[in-house]
Amino acid sequence: VTLRTRLTERLGLRHPILSAPMALAGGGRLAAAVTAAGGLGLIGGGYGDAAWLAREFDAAGNQPVGCGFITWSLAKQPGLLDPVLERKPRAVMLSFGDPTPFAATIAKVGATLICQCQTLEHVRQALDAGAAIIVAQGGEAGGHGMGRGGMTLVPEVADHLAAHAPETLLVAAGGVADGRGLAAALLLGADGVLVGTRLWASAEALVHPGHHAAILGSAGDSTVRTSLPDIARELDWPAGFTARTRRNAFTERWSGREAELKEKIATEGPRYRDAFAAGDAEETGVWFGEAAGLIHAIEPAGAIIERMAEDAAARLAKGRSLIA
Ligand SMILES: Cc1cc2nc3c(=O)[nH]c(=O)nc-3n(C[C@H](O)[C@H](O)[C@H](O)COP(=O)(O)O)c2cc1C
Repeated sequence: VTLRTRLTERLGLRHPILSAPMALAGGGRLAAAVTAAGGLGLIGGGYGDAAWLAREFDAAGNQPVGCGFITWSLAKQPGLLDPVLERKPRAVMLSFGDPTPFAATIAKVGATLICQCQTLEHVRQALDAGAAIIVAQGGEAGGHGMGRGGMTLVPEVADHLAAHAPETLLVAAGGVADGRGLAAALLLGADGVLVGTRLWASAEALVHPGHHAAILGSAGDSTVRTSLPDIARELDWPAGFTARTRRNAFTERWSGREAELKEKIATEGPRYRDAFAAGDAEETGVWFGEAAGLIHAIEPAGAIIERMAEDAAARLAKGRSLIA
């Protein structure tokens, strides 16, 4: 099947599905697999490592892919952008910070500017910067974000775009893990979805098997929004952003003791990083969202994308039967 939306038409896709540019986990193989399956894959530029980015663009081979950056981090090392633009990314996604300083440079090479937003204020800023696509991210999402529920954020942003920027496309993010989520997002007014957690749990994601095993044993209840992983990694996230990760021994032990974690960073920092590298699912940040409860197997990304699109189409068709 194909689902035709403004997103598939604008980007020339078979399915209205983008993969989230997940820091560390979203490498070139995953992005290429998503593009090959008919969506658009985005490499996770994360906190910025030029050698990692070069390697992952190589790993994507000839498949057209895009790339995402954490905007406040990119602002600290703006030199990372040009080498990525030289790779002719299909799209560049900016999240978490003011996209304005980078918008003109991205437009000049013809890449589609995607801005991920958590509030209406972010949406207004992204539109001023010239974003072609707004990603409205709900708080159920894995990784960093804010607290708004996607069920109200997506239609509210759809209304805002219809009134003020009707040419700008809308993509929903947060909790989309199967055809139900995709169909629901389209009905809420989105032109497509951006999928993180479900593709983190794919064969192509750069994720330790120990962390993959942990998501299979987790429900949506087993995640928490927290700043603890950022404190442990000494990352200077702007106020208001937290990360949704697995609720585990690390988050339970330090919850409410953030100041103490900062004081003990000389021992706790390396401990966090060593546990992450070892695939320990208890003593470090394990990065997934509430969609965990909908995921029961680690599968190839292409199969996940195909099934999501097919099931969404079937559900949308079946929706007619609800009308009496
Ligand atoms: C492991 C992981 C890493 C992420 N890293 C980033 C990132 O570096 N930049 C970014 O814009 N979003 C990042 N996100 C958030 C995604 O862009 C997206 O909003 C989210 O995954 C959507 O919700 P879902 O996880 O329920 O699909 C990350 C998400 C996950 C799960």
